[in-house]
Amino acid sequence: MVHAQVHGAAASGHRDRTPRTVGARQLAAMLPDPARARPAYRHLAHAIGELILDGRLALHVRLPAERELATALGTSRTTVTALYDLLRENGYAHSRQGSGTWTALPAGRAAKGVSRLLRPEDTAIDLARAAAALPGQVLADTLAEIAPLAAGHAGTLGYHPYGLPELREAIAARFSARGLATTPEQILVTSGAQHGLSLILALLSRPGDRAMVENPSYPNALEALRRTGLRTVSVPVTDGGGDGGEGGDTGGWDSEIIESTLRRSVPQLAYLIPDFQNPTGGVMPSGERARVLHAAHRSGTWLIVDETLAELALDAPAPAPFAAHGSADAAGKVITTGSMSKTHWAGLRIGWLRAPARLVTELAAQRVATDMGGSVVDQLLALALLNRAEDLLPAHLDRLRAGRTALTEALRTHTPHWSWRTPPGGLSLWVDLGAPVSSALAERALAHGVRIEGGGYFGADPGLFENRLRIPYTLPPETLTEAVQRMARALADDPRPAAPAQRPHWIA
Ligand SMILES: Cc1ncc(COP(=O)(O)O)c(C=O)c1O
Repeated sequence: MVHAQVHGAAASGHRDRTPRTVGARQLAAMLPDPARARPAYRHLAHAIGELILDGRLALHVRLPAERELATALGTSRTTVTALYDLLRENGYAHSRQGSGTWTALPAGRAAKGVSRLLRPEDTAIDLARAAAALPGQVLADTLAEIAPLAAGHAGTLGYHPYGLPELREAIAARFSARGLATTPEQILVTSGAQHGLSLILALLSRPGDRAMVENPSYPNALEALRRTGLRTVSVPVTDGGGDGGEGGDTGGWDSEIIESTLRRSVPQLAYLIPDFQNPTGGVMPSGERARVLHAAHRSGTWLIVDETLAELALDAPAPAPFAAHGSADAAGKVITTGSMSKTHWAGLRIGWLRAPARLVTELAAQRVATDMGGSVVDQLLALALLNRAEDLLPAHLDRLRAGRTALTEALRTHTPHWSWRTPPGGLSLWVDLGAPVSSALAERALAHGVRIEGGGYFGADPGLFENRLRIPYTLPPETLTEAVQRMARALADDPRPAAPAQRPHWIA
């Protein structure tokens, strides 16, 4: 996979005003051979539109001068003039007097916010949220097991703003076992990873600060950044694994782009999901982790590393935690978030963050101002489940593997023109629909009893990833098969795009 090597703030978000350009040779490397299709300019315009929609070519980037692109493509200047005219006509570019042609999105492609909530009575098959159920017997047994412990705690006040000491210890021990030495003082127990992110943003950022994000990324994290008033600067992540040049498979990240973005934009913080990334499923290799950590250290950027999915290794384990890939000094600005939600059960609402002990104290103070602390009973439950993780997790991973197999088989049978790269872990496929139809499909699928949201919700900029659909494999195999059959019927039913409905949206 070749990314646009964007100069200036690479592949950046729309509110970042740093000048950016894409080089003629870099753009040419991402485009089809003009000699192969007639008329070439149409073919090229279509390809550039796809690159923009898929986030591989950033928005608000200056395209090369016509003559330079013509040379790089080995085509005529007239072809490139016609290409740029067509891009402008279709809304994928606009010209600024005296300053060239810039990438843009056609009007009407803006994604909706994700803030409107589902109604509780919604009964459709839920593919909008990637999380699995906990077997009822496991919960019942664990509740029985913790009853005497909970009774013991009843004699205390029950306020633990840092988290229950025994749970902090268990979480620290899990980090250490995964290769990142950690003490309980470095752990703050939160009400889920999303809560941890909110605490971090409230403490470490101010409206107007820059934040580097992956594109695509986890919608609720993007929303939290937006609501904090941060200006996002995005870097592309693909599901292609990347050819990585001499570096081999890059998991979909381009550390050169990340390094140049950190250097030029000097963001206050960056939010990354390096393990089974949501939604692409990619895993950032150790070498890239070390480079990114080093670059963030140089730019003084706080790295918020979301490891919520790190233990969901279906084929091969993820590398050691991100913060283990640099000097203690560099790791001092890494804050790692994690959660029980994807490995055990989201209903616990238990997550954590790992940070330098001094910062944990400040975050705990932030937490007191927010909710005083979490529930003792939920934390005892989480601890008991963590203590049994070596028994419970393999069965959970087996269920996910069965779901992944059922989903891929159903897709091959019922939607043979869709494509995807099977991720080595995590909870979902990032499916390429081959056409920008995902929000229309999501609308129509609801009428067939499937709730799913279009790929656009995962974009750092509005209007991207219309050709993508994130499909979780967290439901039972037969439900997944049924859901795919229904989506195939929704596709076949009505070829007209459905009007976007005013309806609640909620992704997890
Ligand atoms: C990458 C990522 N981070 C965080 C979360 C939210 O986790 P929690 O339920 O612990 O708040 C999710 C859930 O979808 C996720 O995919």
